[in-house]
Amino acid sequence: MRPEDPLALLALAKDIAAEAGEMLLAKRPARPEVVDTKSSPTDVVTALDRESEDLIRARIRAARPGDAILGEEAGADAGRGRVRWIVDPIDGTVNFLYGLPSWAVSIGVEVDGEIVAGVVNAVPTGELFTATKGGGAWLAGERLRCNTGVPLDRALIATGFGYEASRRVVQAEVVAVVLPRVRDIRRAGSCAVDLCSVAAGRVDGYYERGTQYWDHAAGGLIAAEAGARVGGLHGKPVGPEMAVCAAPGLFEELHDLLASLDPERDAPTGR
Ligand code: IPD
Ligand code: CA
Ligand code: CA
Ligand code: CA
Repeated sequence: MRPEDPLALLALAKDIAAEAGEMLLAKRPARPEVVDTKSSPTDVVTALDRESEDLIRARIRAARPGDAILGEEAGADAGRGRVRWIVDPIDGTVNFLYGLPSWAVSIGVEVDGEIVAGVVNAVPTGELFTATKGGGAWLAGERLRCNTGVPLDRALIATGFGYEASRRVVQAEVVAVVLPRVRDIRRAGSCAVDLCSVAAGRVDGYYERGTQYWDHAAGGLIAAEAGARVGGLHGKPVGPEMAVCAAPGLFEELHDLLASLDPERDAPTGR
Protein backbone atom coordinates (compact mmCIF):
# COMPACT_ATOMS: atom_id res chain seq x y z
CA MET A 1 0.00 0.00 0.00
CA ARG A 2 1.31 3.49 -0.83
CA PRO A 3 2.34 5.53 2.20
CA GLU A 4 -0.07 8.27 1.05
CA ASP A 5 -3.09 5.97 0.68
CA PRO A 6 -6.08 7.97 2.04
CA LEU A 7 -7.79 4.90 3.52
CA ALA A 8 -4.66 3.92 5.44
CA LEU A 9 -4.26 7.50 6.65
CA LEU A 10 -7.93 7.55 7.67
CA ALA A 11 -7.59 4.28 9.59
CA LEU A 12 -4.68 5.70 11.57
CA ALA A 13 -6.46 9.03 12.12
CA LYS A 14 -9.55 7.17 13.43
CA ASP A 15 -7.48 5.12 15.88
CA ILE A 16 -5.67 8.20 17.16
CA ALA A 17 -8.83 10.33 17.45
CA ALA A 18 -10.55 7.48 19.30
CA GLU A 19 -7.65 7.11 21.73
CA ALA A 20 -7.52 10.86 22.38
CA GLY A 21 -11.28 10.89 22.96
CA GLU A 22 -11.04 8.03 25.46
CA MET A 23 -8.26 9.80 27.30
CA LEU A 24 -10.28 13.03 27.45
CA LEU A 25 -13.40 11.30 28.74
CA ALA A 26 -11.42 9.40 31.36
CA LYS A 27 -9.46 12.40 32.58
CA ARG A 28 -11.97 15.24 32.26
CA PRO A 29 -12.46 16.60 35.76
CA ALA A 30 -15.77 18.11 36.89
CA ARG A 31 -14.32 21.50 36.08
CA PRO A 32 -11.21 21.41 33.86
CA GLU A 33 -8.47 23.82 34.84
CA VAL A 34 -7.73 26.79 32.58
CA VAL A 35 -3.94 26.94 32.20
CA ASP A 36 -3.61 29.69 29.59
CA THR A 37 -5.48 32.14 27.38
CA LYS A 38 -4.86 33.17 23.77
CA SER A 39 -6.43 35.98 21.73
CA SER A 40 -8.57 37.21 24.64
CA PRO A 41 -9.21 36.31 28.29
CA THR A 42 -12.17 34.18 27.16
CA ASP A 43 -10.08 32.23 24.61
CA VAL A 44 -9.01 29.53 27.03
CA VAL A 45 -6.66 26.56 27.01
CA THR A 46 -7.04 23.66 29.47
CA ALA A 47 -4.34 21.20 30.48
CA LEU A 48 -6.24 18.54 28.54
CA ASP A 49 -6.11 20.53 25.27
CA ARG A 50 -2.33 20.17 25.53
CA GLU A 51 -2.38 16.59 26.73
CA SER A 52 -4.68 15.58 23.89
CA GLU A 53 -2.42 17.22 21.31
CA ASP A 54 0.69 15.66 22.90
CA LEU A 55 -0.92 12.22 22.66
CA ILE A 56 -1.98 12.75 19.04
CA ARG A 57 1.47 14.04 18.00
CA ALA A 58 3.23 11.15 19.75
CA ARG A 59 1.03 8.57 18.00
CA ILE A 60 1.53 10.20 14.60
CA ARG A 61 5.31 10.37 15.12
CA ALA A 62 5.47 6.75 16.25
CA ALA A 63 3.50 5.49 13.25
CA ARG A 64 4.77 7.90 10.58
CA PRO A 65 7.95 9.68 11.70
CA GLY A 66 8.46 11.59 8.44
CA ASP A 67 5.08 13.36 8.34
CA ALA A 68 4.58 17.06 9.07
CA ILE A 69 2.13 18.11 11.79
CA LEU A 70 0.23 21.35 12.37
CA GLY A 71 -1.63 21.50 15.66
CA GLU A 72 -3.50 24.27 17.43
CA GLU A 73 -1.58 24.03 20.68
CA ALA A 74 1.99 23.09 19.67
CA GLY A 75 2.25 24.63 16.21
CA ALA A 76 4.05 23.27 13.16
CA ASP A 77 6.56 20.43 12.86
CA ALA A 78 8.19 20.13 9.44
CA GLY A 79 8.16 16.74 7.73
CA ARG A 80 10.14 14.99 5.03
CA GLY A 81 7.33 13.71 2.84
CA ARG A 82 4.03 14.60 1.21
CA VAL A 83 1.80 14.12 4.24
CA ARG A 84 0.78 16.70 6.85
CA TRP A 85 -1.57 16.18 9.79
CA ILE A 86 -3.87 19.04 10.85
CA VAL A 87 -4.87 18.63 14.47
CA ASP A 88 -7.41 20.32 16.74
CA PRO A 89 -7.03 18.35 19.97
CA ILE A 90 -10.28 19.71 21.42
CA ASP A 91 -12.53 21.74 19.15
CA GLY A 92 -15.03 23.38 21.45
CA THR A 93 -12.85 23.98 24.48
CA VAL A 94 -15.41 26.28 26.11
CA ASN A 95 -18.04 23.52 25.92
CA PHE A 96 -15.45 21.08 27.29
CA LEU A 97 -14.83 23.48 30.15
CA TYR A 98 -18.51 23.76 31.06
CA GLY A 99 -19.49 20.15 30.37
CA LEU A 100 -21.67 20.99 27.37
CA PRO A 101 -21.87 18.11 24.89
CA SER A 102 -20.55 19.71 21.68
CA TRP A 103 -16.80 19.23 21.41
CA ALA A 104 -14.59 17.01 19.32
CA VAL A 105 -11.15 15.77 18.46
CA SER A 106 -10.52 16.79 14.86
CA ILE A 107 -7.79 15.34 12.64
CA GLY A 108 -7.40 16.11 8.93
CA VAL A 109 -4.68 14.60 6.76
CA GLU A 110 -3.18 16.38 3.77
CA VAL A 111 -1.30 14.83 0.88
CA ASP A 112 0.51 17.40 -1.25
CA GLY A 113 -1.40 20.22 0.43
CA GLU A 114 -4.89 18.79 -0.05
CA ILE A 115 -7.00 17.23 2.70
CA VAL A 116 -7.66 13.60 1.66
CA ALA A 117 -8.85 12.12 4.95
CA GLY A 118 -10.67 13.56 7.94
CA VAL A 119 -11.99 12.38 11.28
CA VAL A 120 -14.13 14.30 13.75
CA ASN A 121 -14.61 12.38 16.98
CA ALA A 122 -17.58 14.06 18.65
CA VAL A 123 -16.65 12.54 21.97
CA PRO A 124 -19.67 13.36 24.22
CA THR A 125 -22.12 11.85 21.71
CA GLY A 126 -19.83 8.95 20.81
CA GLU A 127 -20.04 9.80 17.12
CA LEU A 128 -17.05 9.34 14.82
CA PHE A 129 -17.53 11.22 11.55
CA THR A 130 -15.11 10.28 8.76
CA ALA A 131 -14.41 11.03 5.11
CA THR A 132 -11.86 10.40 2.41
CA LYS A 133 -11.53 12.54 -0.70
CA GLY A 134 -13.85 11.00 -3.29
CA GLY A 135 -14.86 8.23 -0.88
CA GLY A 136 -17.84 9.87 0.79
CA ALA A 137 -18.60 10.93 4.34
CA TRP A 138 -19.62 8.35 6.89
CA LEU A 139 -21.08 7.96 10.38
CA ALA A 140 -21.63 4.56 12.00
CA GLY A 141 -21.55 2.76 8.65
CA GLU A 142 -24.10 5.11 7.06
CA ARG A 143 -23.21 7.41 4.20
CA LEU A 144 -23.95 11.03 5.00
CA ARG A 145 -25.82 13.40 2.69
CA CYS A 146 -26.44 17.04 3.47
CA ASN A 147 -29.91 18.56 3.08
CA THR A 148 -30.65 19.86 -0.40
CA GLY A 149 -33.27 22.16 -1.89
CA VAL A 150 -33.67 24.30 1.22
CA PRO A 151 -34.11 28.02 0.50
CA LEU A 152 -32.38 30.52 2.80
CA ASP A 153 -35.62 31.63 4.45
CA ARG A 154 -36.32 28.02 5.55
CA ALA A 155 -32.71 27.19 6.48
CA LEU A 156 -31.44 26.34 9.95
CA ILE A 157 -27.99 27.89 10.00
CA ALA A 158 -25.16 27.10 12.41
CA THR A 159 -22.57 29.73 13.16
CA GLY A 160 -19.81 30.52 15.60
CA PHE A 161 -18.05 33.52 17.04
CA GLY A 162 -14.29 33.86 17.33
CA TYR A 163 -12.98 35.10 20.64
CA GLU A 164 -11.40 38.43 19.70
CA ALA A 165 -13.53 41.36 20.82
CA SER A 166 -12.90 43.34 17.63
CA ARG A 167 -14.13 40.43 15.50
CA ARG A 168 -17.14 39.93 17.75
CA VAL A 169 -18.48 43.38 16.98
CA VAL A 170 -18.54 42.53 13.26
CA GLN A 171 -19.89 39.04 13.94
CA ALA A 172 -22.75 40.54 15.93
CA GLU A 173 -23.56 42.97 13.11
CA VAL A 174 -23.57 40.13 10.59
CA VAL A 175 -25.75 37.78 12.65
CA ALA A 176 -28.23 40.62 13.27
CA VAL A 177 -28.80 40.77 9.51
CA VAL A 178 -28.76 36.99 8.94
CA LEU A 179 -31.14 36.04 11.79
CA PRO A 180 -34.35 37.58 10.36
CA ARG A 181 -33.56 36.04 6.94
CA VAL A 182 -33.35 32.37 8.01
CA ARG A 183 -35.42 29.78 9.93
CA ASP A 184 -33.13 30.13 12.93
CA ILE A 185 -29.53 30.26 14.08
CA ARG A 186 -27.64 27.66 16.14
CA ARG A 187 -24.36 28.38 17.96
CA ALA A 188 -23.30 24.97 19.24
CA GLY A 189 -19.67 25.85 20.00
CA SER A 190 -17.54 23.58 17.81
CA CYS A 191 -16.75 24.40 14.21
CA ALA A 192 -15.82 20.76 13.49
CA VAL A 193 -19.13 19.48 14.90
CA ASP A 194 -21.05 22.24 13.07
CA LEU A 195 -19.57 21.11 9.74
CA CYS A 196 -20.45 17.49 10.55
CA SER A 197 -23.97 18.67 11.43
CA VAL A 198 -24.28 20.09 7.91
CA ALA A 199 -23.02 16.75 6.55
CA ALA A 200 -25.60 14.83 8.60
CA GLY A 201 -28.51 17.15 7.73
CA ARG A 202 -28.91 18.33 11.33
CA VAL A 203 -28.56 21.90 10.15
CA ASP A 204 -28.86 23.20 6.60
CA GLY A 205 -25.80 25.42 6.51
CA TYR A 206 -22.99 26.99 8.47
CA TYR A 207 -20.93 30.13 8.33
CA GLU A 208 -18.30 31.66 10.56
CA ARG A 209 -15.75 34.44 10.47
CA GLY A 210 -12.31 33.91 11.96
CA THR A 211 -11.89 30.14 11.92
CA GLN A 212 -8.44 28.57 11.73
CA TYR A 213 -7.34 25.74 9.46
CA TRP A 214 -7.42 23.14 12.27
CA ASP A 215 -11.06 24.06 13.04
CA HIS A 216 -12.33 23.10 9.59
CA ALA A 217 -9.70 20.84 7.97
CA ALA A 218 -11.44 17.54 8.77
CA GLY A 219 -15.03 18.79 9.06
CA GLY A 220 -14.75 20.65 5.76
CA LEU A 221 -13.89 17.43 3.92
CA ILE A 222 -16.70 15.57 5.71
CA ALA A 223 -19.23 18.24 4.70
CA ALA A 224 -17.94 18.37 1.12
CA GLU A 225 -18.09 14.59 0.79
CA ALA A 226 -21.68 14.73 2.02
CA GLY A 227 -22.51 16.99 -0.92
CA ALA A 228 -22.05 20.42 0.62
CA ARG A 229 -20.15 23.24 -0.96
CA VAL A 230 -17.45 24.61 1.34
CA GLY A 231 -15.74 27.91 0.58
CA GLY A 232 -14.91 31.45 1.52
CA LEU A 233 -16.21 34.66 0.01
CA HIS A 234 -15.79 35.79 -3.58
CA GLY A 235 -14.56 32.39 -4.82
CA LYS A 236 -11.78 32.19 -2.28
CA PRO A 237 -11.22 28.99 -0.31
CA VAL A 238 -12.26 28.89 3.34
CA GLY A 239 -10.00 31.27 5.24
CA PRO A 240 -9.92 33.36 8.38
CA GLU A 241 -12.27 35.91 6.78
CA MET A 242 -15.11 33.48 6.22
CA ALA A 243 -16.14 29.85 6.06
CA VAL A 244 -19.44 29.08 4.33
CA CYS A 245 -20.90 25.60 4.01
CA ALA A 246 -24.22 24.42 2.58
CA ALA A 247 -25.65 22.44 -0.31
CA PRO A 248 -25.30 24.15 -3.71
CA GLY A 249 -28.13 26.65 -4.06
CA LEU A 250 -28.30 27.49 -0.37
CA PHE A 251 -24.53 28.06 -0.42
CA GLU A 252 -24.91 30.77 -3.05
CA GLU A 253 -27.84 32.44 -1.23
CA LEU A 254 -25.94 32.45 2.05
CA HIS A 255 -22.71 33.50 0.34
CA ASP A 256 -24.33 36.43 -1.38
CA LEU A 257 -25.94 37.68 1.82
CA LEU A 258 -22.64 37.40 3.71
CA ALA A 259 -20.68 38.94 0.85
CA SER A 260 -23.06 41.91 0.80
CA LEU A 261 -22.20 42.49 4.48
CA ASP A 262 -18.48 41.94 4.15
CA PRO A 263 -16.03 44.81 4.36
CA GLU A 264 -14.10 43.15 1.54
CA ARG A 265 -17.11 43.03 -0.76
CA ASP A 266 -15.23 44.91 -3.44
CA ALA A 267 -12.73 42.06 -3.63
CA PRO A 268 -12.57 40.05 -6.90
CA THR A 269 -15.97 38.82 -8.00
CA GLY A 270 -17.06 35.20 -8.32
CA ARG A 271 -18.41 32.80 -5.72
C1 IPD B 1 -13.39 27.24 18.49
C2 IPD B 1 -14.66 26.50 18.14
C3 IPD B 1 -15.82 27.46 18.06
C4 IPD B 1 -15.56 28.55 17.08
C5 IPD B 1 -14.26 29.27 17.38
C6 IPD B 1 -13.11 28.27 17.46
P1 IPD B 1 -11.53 25.91 19.92
O1 IPD B 1 -12.29 26.34 18.54
O2 IPD B 1 -14.54 25.84 16.90
O3 IPD B 1 -17.01 26.83 17.67
O4 IPD B 1 -16.63 29.45 17.09
O5 IPD B 1 -14.04 30.17 16.32
O6 IPD B 1 -11.93 28.96 17.82
O7 IPD B 1 -10.74 27.08 20.37
O8 IPD B 1 -12.58 25.49 20.89
O9 IPD B 1 -10.67 24.79 19.43
CA1 CA C 1 -10.97 24.81 17.18
CA1 CA D 1 -8.96 23.56 20.01
CA1 CA E 1 -8.64 27.03 21.20
